[in-house]
Amino acid sequence: MPKNSRPDNQPASPKRRRFLQWIAGATLLGTGATAAYGERVEANDLQVVHQDIAVAGWPAGTPPLRVGQLSDLHCDRAAALARARRAAEMLRAQRPDVVFLTGDYISEKPLRWAAPAAQALAPLTAVPGGVFCILGNHDWTNFRWRPGDAGIVARALSEVGFTVLRNDAAPLPQAPGVWLIGLDDRFAGKQDVARALRDVLPGACKILLVHEPDYADEAPPGFALQLSGHSHGGQIRLPGLPPLHVPKYSTHYPEGLQQGPHHPIYTTRGIGMIGPQMRLFCPPEVTVLNLHAA
Ligand SMILES: [Fe+2]
Repeated sequence: MPKNSRPDNQPASPKRRRFLQWIAGATLLGTGATAAYGERVEANDLQVVHQDIAVAGWPAGTPPLRVGQLSDLHCDRAAALARARRAAEMLRAQRPDVVFLTGDYISEKPLRWAAPAAQALAPLTAVPGGVFCILGNHDWTNFRWRPGDAGIVARALSEVGFTVLRNDAAPLPQAPGVWLIGLDDRFAGKQDVARALRDVLPGACKILLVHEPDYADEAPPGFALQLSGHSHGGQIRLPGLPPLHVPKYSTHYPEGLQQGPHHPIYTTRGIGMIGPQMRLFCPPEVTVLNLHAA
């Protein structure tokens, strides 16, 4: 049989070629449409998520506390700032008693973005119990995720009236007997739990804020609850499946309420994005937690 007469070497028939072209076109169109949906629709589809949590050791007689949580704003462009402003508005409308912010206000370039990010969130100072915040790994980066100076972000947050907890603790006046313990970033290796606990009264009900949820696996016992972000819930997911990818230190507790070795962890999907500016099957989350006695 001559070499060029083998069926494999024969050019596709016009009908088959048209079919293959149609498949390729549809795939390209589908991919483009999915990316456009993820970028223009779902990335801006902020959803309020309510979570009721019975907290072990909640002091007797202390009323329930309505906590607003935002995380991972990743303000690195005008669209992200607009999203952060809208998240703050949506959270205020939920009338929380107090607000906790769990890190990654920027993605990089703190001199460019820290102050605008803090300004976008500043309306939250109107919340009666105020705003307590911790830093995330991106707040410790300078340019292209190189280690930087988180002091720039911390100062910007303080200047709009937020309380920044960096290995520090504060009692919550609206919830007598409940203390908030805020760690500096685990990814950057800046956490110091012993230092953070130094002023906490014995017997206090302790709520831990730390950006990376998997810190729960190394945390000492004694915390009643941990609130974290960092994972973005995976950011890009397939329906009904666990996240395809989450960053280091968020693989064990990527989303929602889960139980760790010593205490429960709530991980919010957060608001912003890193890498491709899209979310799929993982919309941004404005979190409202109702904390009360177990
Ligand atoms: Fe992060």
